[in-house]
Amino acid sequence: MKPDATQTVFDKLLPDVLQAPVSATAFAPSNIALSKYWGKRDKPLNLPLNSSLSVSLGNWGTTTTLSPADQDTLVFNGKTVSGTDPFAIRLFAFVNHFRRRQSLPLSIESRNTIPTAAGLASSASGFAALTLALNKAFQAQLTDTELSIIARVGSGSASRSLWHGFVRWDRGESGDGMDSFARPLAINWPSFRIAIVTVDSSQKSHSSRDGMNHTVATSPLFSAWPAQAEKDCDSIERALIEQDFATVGHTAESNALGMHATMQAARPALSYLKPESWAVLETLWQARRNGLLAFATMDAGANVKLIYLEKDETSVKALFPTATCIAPFSVERAIERAAD
Ligand code: PMV
Repeated sequence: MKPDATQTVFDKLLPDVLQAPVSATAFAPSNIALSKYWGKRDKPLNLPLNSSLSVSLGNWGTTTTLSPADQDTLVFNGKTVSGTDPFAIRLFAFVNHFRRRQSLPLSIESRNTIPTAAGLASSASGFAALTLALNKAFQAQLTDTELSIIARVGSGSASRSLWHGFVRWDRGESGDGMDSFARPLAINWPSFRIAIVTVDSSQKSHSSRDGMNHTVATSPLFSAWPAQAEKDCDSIERALIEQDFATVGHTAESNALGMHATMQAARPALSYLKPESWAVLETLWQARRNGLLAFATMDAGANVKLIYLEKDETSVKALFPTATCIAPFSVERAIERAAD
């Protein structure tokens, strides 16, 4: 049988046989894109139509422990997940690639340090932590680039969750995706802040995967997206290097609203934003007219994330008292890679 495209990626990056796994634990942070990944040129490989750029959420993320076991088991946030659950099937299909066709049962214990009430998606940190834990457990000694390619196959945005700080995922050109991976940007910005304004903590109605594919397939506005998103990504990277916060903020907010506009024009329309999300935006825009330098970005969900600088934290908290504020650079910068 011809191997599928996903299998081919793992066959290129891993030897035919890996040694039996040992217990291993890994952490990966969640990330918020300032310039979004929206639209794939290859669905099974999660190859994007445009580059994207994110900031990681410090200690908010996923910790995953793998241990050799008698049979495959998955415990997520303290609850056992049935092997027939689509989430477990997707996770173990990914794990299978490291088992290299051998029967090596594993228990996976995964915990999000992101408060569930924040309503943030966790597939990015989840697949990144799983990739790092698999690399340690099987002692595969993959490079950062290889880890990012593998995490990307699990979930596109996971390719960016292997580092703290600002991370850029270049779209790449090749059909096999070997040039589509993320890398950390050497930019330190200790006063950079993120606030999560939660308007809805329930499970979203459409996964980002489905929403993205539906928009690409049906939205007449989508054709304008990839080129604009590529430009936004470059502008944001330049503005981050120059520490030009106004340009970072204006570009990130326009990029997010542009992405949501492509969804609204999809047929049928897709809207992750709720009236409460728009109310947050109205409040923010009014405050900005009064001089506050804070900006919004929204993903495949109703919650609004704000970016601002430390000096404006009191004003942001006054406007949005329930917001959770994150200092993405107040963490140890290195994420552990190798087996202990
Ligand atoms: O990695 P996925 O399939 O969950 O897609 C993420 C899509 C967005 O969050 C909307 C944008 C992004 O770049 O993270």
